[in-house]
Amino acid sequence: MRILVLNGPNLNMLGIREPAVYGGQSLANVEARLASLASQLGVEVECHQSNHEGALIDMIHAAFGRVQGILINPGALTHYSYAVRDAIASVGLPTVEVHLSNIHAREPFRHQSVVAAVCVGQISGFGSDSYQLGLRALVSYLQKTQERIRTA
Ligand code: DQA
Repeated sequence: MRILVLNGPNLNMLGIREPAVYGGQSLANVEARLASLASQLGVEVECHQSNHEGALIDMIHAAFGRVQGILINPGALTHYSYAVRDAIASVGLPTVEVHLSNIHAREPFRHQSVVAAVCVGQISGFGSDSYQLGLRALVSYLQKTQERIRTA
């Protein structure tokens, strides 16, 4: 099972960027921890980050037929990118949305996620553990779906 892990704008600055909000771990560190969890779970992760909306959309499209699910932190695009939302809906791949901070406890403009409705679920507020929890949730969801198909 292969999972695409996508990080949006400014997440390459993790570790430097507002550490009181996002913690002190770098994105490389977050991705290394995810890769180690992935091997424990018996899945593969492929990690990418971009500061560009179109590049993220291209990566979502390219995931079609190649991976089984997507773990995404769209960064600020979460709050306004109908294009990222439509890309997720277009490929129809089970997607889990993650955030380091609790977006619902922050500024009002962060309370809305325009991608949430096309995701299986959202994990928000656990720092870098949000990614670990998100991967576990996505893999468990995909395994259950495969099991349902097998026994149908
Ligand atoms: C974020 C929350 C967003 O509001 C913000 O724009 C980010 C990071 C998070 O992981 O907490 O870039 O997605």
